[in-house]
Amino acid sequence: MKIFRDKKTLTDYIERQKEMGKKIGFAPTMGALHQGHLSLYEKAEKENDLVISSIFVNPTQFNNPIDLEKYPRNVERDLKLLEQSGFVDAVYLPQVEDLYPEGLKSKSYDFDGLENEMEGKFRPGHFDGVGTVVEELLRQVKPDHAYFGEKDYQQLAIIAKLTEKLKLPVKINGVPIFREKSGLAMSSRNERLTPTQREASKIIHETLIKVNEWFRIITVPEINKRVKEIFEDQRGMTLEYFEIADEKTLKETDFFYKDKDYRAFIVVFVDDVRLIDNMHLD
Ligand code: PAF
Repeated sequence: MKIFRDKKTLTDYIERQKEMGKKIGFAPTMGALHQGHLSLYEKAEKENDLVISSIFVNPTQFNNPIDLEKYPRNVERDLKLLEQSGFVDAVYLPQVEDLYPEGLKSKSYDFDGLENEMEGKFRPGHFDGVGTVVEELLRQVKPDHAYFGEKDYQQLAIIAKLTEKLKLPVKINGVPIFREKSGLAMSSRNERLTPTQREASKIIHETLIKVNEWFRIITVPEINKRVKEIFEDQRGMTLEYFEIADEKTLKETDFFYKDKDYRAFIVVFVDDVRLIDNMHLD
């Protein structure tokens, strides 16, 4: 597996691969890799000639400095895991200047309103940070396909919108949420949970399963009320938000229309660890 630690060596390599007509699959990450990431690479490997990943903890997408400071980092372990997986041909570990030549600041984007829902309300500036780093990475790596987890469903929708608006020649692919045995969605942040907290956090997925059972049987306000009640009874957990939203517009709904698809979105703090999850309702 090749390792590129700066933009120049990466872009020279990309150019050579493009000349040889190689089809490139790309999965950007912030490291602390787990099986959820491996499922992105596995899909990328099936659909491309060459798989590239990047590891960069992007400061501009953190609205909370403590979250940025505590974000798990272990590049050596990540590289070992990538090597062992056998899915990845090259990994890019950019320096800050490679992605932010003019200093660490975000561009400002219009994602047709997708950025104002859910995460956009609770994490101001987050999607401008994601947009800035992903746009730059896509311009440097020039992939044919890029892969993102559905765990961050709103992010996936926003990146698809970004590439559509900027007319970047890449297909954005979503990869289903990879769950621990308990049902907890895999996340780099899970590393920060104690074993007891990790066990207790399965309530998040269990709640989404209940919501799916209630879907189109009880009303949206009643579902919202029940979810709130579930988390009021959980010690050490705080429900930041729960919403059922139109899967396309990501706008919260208070009524189930016949011809629309819906998805439930949830964010829970377990102590100071922020966990996010979602589920398509059917
Ligand atoms: O989902 C992530 O890990 C990050 O938001 C991403 C897409 C790598 C951008 O920093």
